[in-house]
Amino acid sequence: MDSIVVKGGQPLSGQIKIAGAKNAALTLMPATLLSEEPLTLTNAPRLSDIKTMTALLQSLGVEVTAMKDGNVQVLSSHALTSTTADYDIVRKMRASNLVLGPLLARHHQAVVSLPGGCAIGARPMDIHVTALEALGAEIELKDGYLHAVAKGGLKGAKVPLRFASVGATENVLMAATLAKGITVIENAAREPEIVDLAKCLRTMGAQIEGEGTSTITVEGVDRLGAASHAVVTDRIELGTYMLAPVFAGGEVECLGGRLDLVESFVEKLDAAGVSVTQTQAGLKVSRANGRAKAVDVTTEVFPGFPTDLQAQMMAMLCTAEGTSVLEEKIFENRFMHAPELVRMGAQIEVHGGTATVHGVERLKGAPVMATDLRASVSLILAGLAAEGETIVSRVYHLDRGYEHVEEKLSAVGAQIERVTG
Ligand code: EPZ
Repeated sequence: MDSIVVKGGQPLSGQIKIAGAKNAALTLMPATLLSEEPLTLTNAPRLSDIKTMTALLQSLGVEVTAMKDGNVQVLSSHALTSTTADYDIVRKMRASNLVLGPLLARHHQAVVSLPGGCAIGARPMDIHVTALEALGAEIELKDGYLHAVAKGGLKGAKVPLRFASVGATENVLMAATLAKGITVIENAAREPEIVDLAKCLRTMGAQIEGEGTSTITVEGVDRLGAASHAVVTDRIELGTYMLAPVFAGGEVECLGGRLDLVESFVEKLDAAGVSVTQTQAGLKVSRANGRAKAVDVTTEVFPGFPTDLQAQMMAMLCTAEGTSVLEEKIFENRFMHAPELVRMGAQIEVHGGTATVHGVERLKGAPVMATDLRASVSLILAGLAAEGETIVSRVYHLDRGYEHVEEKLSAVGAQIERVTG
């Protein structure tokens, strides 16, 4: 298993290109199942999760052609050979469950393995199931698989979500595009990845209104056509690299960064004394003179503070001036980076969903272990600020969501390398 070695203390300077959003690409790719015409995705990120989604779609009979340097994909599902998403793929990546809605909508059947839990939580699918049943699907859990049928096809309906689940919103939005009649999704998630999905579906011919608000209205159509769509910028990768100069010092410009994608995050950076400027090319960030200030953070659904930036923010607050309180309200077990940061000298107390961070002057490099995607990158960032060398092991977690992190950071002056082992 590869490790990444970081030597702290080198101020950063330069530009980092932000890739297309993993969490947009993972819902845009299954959208190809809604049409027999090809779907072309540009600005697609090159990540292991994308490879996993590609393998899953190919196992259903979808033709996936990666063009040029992997940033362009052409997907075509005119000749499906299966409507079953196997456990051995789904267990590796929960987002595999996003084939459920499209398969039901166009093929009126699907067998999708329950993903099972993962490091950050149980990750149930009750909201997905209730929403699709509202559209007339019959869904039964058997031997760890959801067996779903839509006799005569799905029918539009009012679909109130008990919680603004991102994945459930995406599944029912895709399903509704081909359901007969009008669907109104209430308490819909508002994440930019859902807005991006709606834009792509509209290009394919879907009738959608209200994406980005809590109420999305869809008028079903008989069929969807071809589309070419550029994947939206990854706001989580953006937030992650915006923090790099705060840890290491210096100044970095994140190319493609847009303030509207990271508003609640930037509000916290402002409060911590970090300066963020929108330039023509993206977002420029430099550490305030001296130490950042402590701030309290509570993760919420969009447009609140994103749970996917909680670990990175906690790492930054470890050396802030003062005490910060972080509340994780989206997942039940998303503080696994805390004990690893404590190994580096951080002072963190975790009680249930609340972590209290007492800022210290400096962290010390140490061998640490990645436990999930965002925790792993928070340890890399901490290594940029730490005295000495930090060795982050199990970086396969990292490769799920970050394209060549060591290349992007060393290009702006970080002392970082990947050790294959
Ligand atoms: C998406 O996961 C993202 N993944 C996650 O990013 C992100 O953390 C999450 O949204 C929240 O923003 C992708 O888009 C591929 P949810 P998703 O359904 O859709 C509970 C990353 O690091 N819930 O909004 O699975 C669930 O257990 C990943 O890139 C139910 O109880 O998130 C969780 O506690 C991690 N029943 C909460 O809701 C359900 O049926 C949020 O889940 C569905 C969800």
